[in-house]
Amino acid sequence: MSTEPPFDKDNGTTPPSRRKILTASTIALGGAGACALAAPFLESLEGPGADLRKAESDDKAAIVEVDLSDLKRGDHKQIKWKNWPVFIQYRTKDMIAALKEPALKALLRDPDSKIRQQPKDAVNDYRSINPDYAILIGICTHLGCIPNFRDVKGYAHKGGFFCPCHGSQFDNAGRVLKDMPAPYNLPVPPARFIKPTILRLGESAAEPHFSMNDIQQI
Ligand code: FES
Repeated sequence: MSTEPPFDKDNGTTPPSRRKILTASTIALGGAGACALAAPFLESLEGPGADLRKAESDDKAAIVEVDLSDLKRGDHKQIKWKNWPVFIQYRTKDMIAALKEPALKALLRDPDSKIRQQPKDAVNDYRSINPDYAILIGICTHLGCIPNFRDVKGYAHKGGFFCPCHGSQFDNAGRVLKDMPAPYNLPVPPARFIKPTILRLGESAAEPHFSMNDIQQI
């Protein structure tokens, strides 16, 4: 597999509307770079371990229920929702505590999630409806590659995401570090827990009409 970045490097100055076009084009073109990186990942989502059950809905792919009972603290799983990869991580207590630390927040571009990249009930230090879980759409806000789970470089606490295409780093709440190519935090999907370990993706209790079209960028 080529290690070359699949897209022209963007220094983060491209207006958001242009990035949206680039991201859409990237997905539509299905080129060898990012999509080659994404393909094995997405194929893996179709396996029996995906733990997906589609609920009744007008949009058959819009609401899925995910069983998280197999996760231990520190574990993560990757599923598919509306054809996007979704990262779910059951955080350790240290990871949860770290998200509020001033030393980490000082590294972040939008530590308080002021930019609309999530439903209202995820505007908090954890960017989540439940601090125990990170629930993030795994699409880099630079040019649409799929980040990896990897600790934030140079930061003492575990957890985070690294985009292999141009090196953007995100903390374990999907908040992008300063001076990275990615301009925004990773998107958070609408979600709610219907049982302690059963997550329903596609519904926001706080914003019943929330749409991913409402956010700044995916
Ligand atoms: S796509 Fe460029 S850093 Fe992620």
